Amino acid sequence: MSQDRAQAIPAFIDLAAQRERLGDRIDQAISAVLRHGQYILGPEVAALEDRLASFCGARHCVTCANGTDALILALMAEGIRPGDAVFVPAFTFVATVEVAVLCGATPVFVDVGPDTFNLDASSLEAAIGEARQRGLKPRCVIPVDLYGQPADYRVIGEIAKAYDLLVIADAAQSFGASLDGRQVGTLATYTATSFYPSKPLGGYGDGGAVFTDDDERAARLRSLRNHGKGPDRPDTEHVGLNSRLDSIQAAILLEKLRLFPDEIPARQERAERYTQALAPLVKVPELMPGATSVWAQYTIVTDRRDELAKSCRDAGVPTAIHYPSALNSLAPYRQFPTAPAGLPQAEFLAKRVISLPMHPYLGADAQALIVATIRHALASKAGVARAAE
Ligand SMILES: Cc1ncc(COP(=O)(O)O)c(C=O)c1O
Repeated sequence: MSQDRAQAIPAFIDLAAQRERLGDRIDQAISAVLRHGQYILGPEVAALEDRLASFCGARHCVTCANGTDALILALMAEGIRPGDAVFVPAFTFVATVEVAVLCGATPVFVDVGPDTFNLDASSLEAAIGEARQRGLKPRCVIPVDLYGQPADYRVIGEIAKAYDLLVIADAAQSFGASLDGRQVGTLATYTATSFYPSKPLGGYGDGGAVFTDDDERAARLRSLRNHGKGPDRPDTEHVGLNSRLDSIQAAILLEKLRLFPDEIPARQERAERYTQALAPLVKVPELMPGATSVWAQYTIVTDRRDELAKSCRDAGVPTAIHYPSALNSLAPYRQFPTAPAGLPQAEFLAKRVISLPMHPYLGADAQALIVATIRHALASKAGVARAAE
């Protein structure tokens, strides 16, 4: 391999480039926490919550230990329990369904759409009927903003209203995106996000947050994340969790949040470059009218995934599969109900999706290498996958 080619080899997610840009700000932020010593719920946590809430326009931000807990805290705050049905897309990271089961509820799997890969509204309505027939109480839907694009909260909101369902947005991948000019964080009663290091806004460890506009719900979340304690006294008001964000992670995230407004358009530019180059070769991701994405992943759909993955591996281009199985096919979740027409899109996508390197520091030369590798791999015949009929 020539020197030029070696230099162009892309990282899947380049945290080192971001670290370089941050300079010694992270070290200083961590040192400040070490000096004051308030490691748990220190001033950085409150400052981060203020900054995140104003960033997205939500009234409250309650940080917590990770994105999975953010979902659990929202479910706990609503008293979701055995006998309740929680509707989840079948094509997402496993945490989305895990939390419903941990609360004792029954998850009901819903299919996703062929273009955005997000929750399909007609499948949701059918799944609500299925849950009722099984004697479950429809309580809550958790739409996922897959790969960084918000789900269609306009339509989901209408269905939720009609059937009296609570909407908890799983925005682990989409903080910083928007729908009709409204930021993620304000599109549902609760919005749960993750600061896992590879997320668009990631820390250097685990972290998460819940956003809500409702004062009482925010107070419950604050209590639940800290063993159910009351606000000003040590009395225990609820059965809670230990799910606090560390002050050191908050200090790191405050520094990273400064770069975030630059990094979002940089991600969008890179996604646009991919789309221009790859649309003739494979099915590329589509944005809904009115939606922006933060491109947590740039994920294409092809019938020739194995071949493509091998060619990429051989050329030194990292790829990943998000996600290789529809959740209802995983052993712990096979027993749970699905929408009556099944989950054909989720199953179709699980066999064909492949994610490409995506981060705000991905250079044009590295992206050209990725595109050339894909073009070469698929040169013999078109690899465009059609949606399942
Ligand atoms: C869609 C989705 N939901 C929930 C989570 C859970 O977040 P965390 O890893 O911070 O617990 C993730 C993280 O990968 C995710 O992608």
